[in-house]
Amino acid sequence: MDERIVSTEADNHESAIEQSLRPQTLSQYIGQQKVKDNLSVFIEAARMRQETLDHVLLYGPPGLGKTTLASIIANEMNVQLRTTSGPAIERPGDLAAILTSLEPGDVLFIDEIHRLQRSIEEVLYPAMEDFCLDIVIGKGDTARSVRLDLPPFTLVGATTRVGLLTAPLRDRFGVHARLEYYEQRDLAHIVARTAELFEIGIDIRSAEEIARRSRGTPRVANRLLRRVRDFAQVVGNHAITEDIAENALERLQVDKLGLDHIDHKLLLSMIEKFRGGPVGLDTISATIGEESHTIEDVYEPYLLQIGFLQRTPRGRVVTREAYEHFQMEVPIRD
Ligand SMILES: Nc1ncnc2c1ncn2[C@@H]1O[C@H](COP(=O)(O)OP(=O)(O)OP(=O)(O)O)[C@@H](O)[C@H]1O
Ligand SMILES: [Mg+2]
Repeated sequence: MDERIVSTEADNHESAIEQSLRPQTLSQYIGQQKVKDNLSVFIEAARMRQETLDHVLLYGPPGLGKTTLASIIANEMNVQLRTTSGPAIERPGDLAAILTSLEPGDVLFIDEIHRLQRSIEEVLYPAMEDFCLDIVIGKGDTARSVRLDLPPFTLVGATTRVGLLTAPLRDRFGVHARLEYYEQRDLAHIVARTAELFEIGIDIRSAEEIARRSRGTPRVANRLLRRVRDFAQVVGNHAITEDIAENALERLQVDKLGLDHIDHKLLLSMIEKFRGGPVGLDTISATIGEESHTIEDVYEPYLLQIGFLQRTPRGRVVTREAYEHFQMEVPIRD
């Protein structure tokens, strides 16, 4: 079985499920207290002034709830949400078409905004700043620029790689919200909420067990819950108990810390082939056969967060904690 518990994106089937699980309001959105507190103030203030909300940049690792938050912002502002993504906008005209079709106050959500082409980004600058569009009509000597007014709107941009955003684009967002890995009790709460939506019984200890192995990520928590539910339905009487949860998680090859077989492969090959590093990202990628951007976006952030990997100028290094997790002896480094 090679279903990935930790993958970059949700597939189509999963997206439909995710859609149905998305909280609709800020109060249903669990955890991320700082982000929520700030956003609720900004939203309320904008509503009181009857203005659009300032542009919001959401960033953080995959599956932490950026898309969810974008739709909540639209809901809370009582406006329409229009959704697109960096790679989907191929020409400046595509973006112009979207911008001119907005209703006043709408939220335009651009996912993977770090992948916008430069020429398209430039269309966005005056749109974000002055709600207008500069269009060039004609060619050569007769070319002239015309300015078109746009309805005021809120741009919500999401990215897993904020470092790749150009400074001019980043600076045009009034609100920057960084999503953090979730605390375990928040994840347990999310698991319990999802179980309720699935109409499946789960006790608190089992919800906590799933939460512990969800690498701080709601998408992973919901994914694990769905798999555990399968076991509960086949071997149990539909309710998830601690035994069932533990057994299922064991069979899914998700260890006590939520590391899956790819995390293991990554760390163990660094340990076995490179004495724990330093190793460059491309070398790791070639050794384990995973794309380097997947490693950088999906696997590495969590391993850095729990202190199993360190980044040094000479490459990635496996830490003592990781060796201890695998009950291996730490080599003496020179
Ligand atoms: N705070 C939360 N409370 C409850 N459920 C959440 C929360 N955050 C995320 N989820 C659930 O986790 C799943 C993934 O969230 P979402 O798609 O918003 O993540 P994302 O950050 O946009 O991921 P990506 O970077 O891959 O686009 C959704 O099904 C959503 O319902
Ligand atoms: Mg998303």
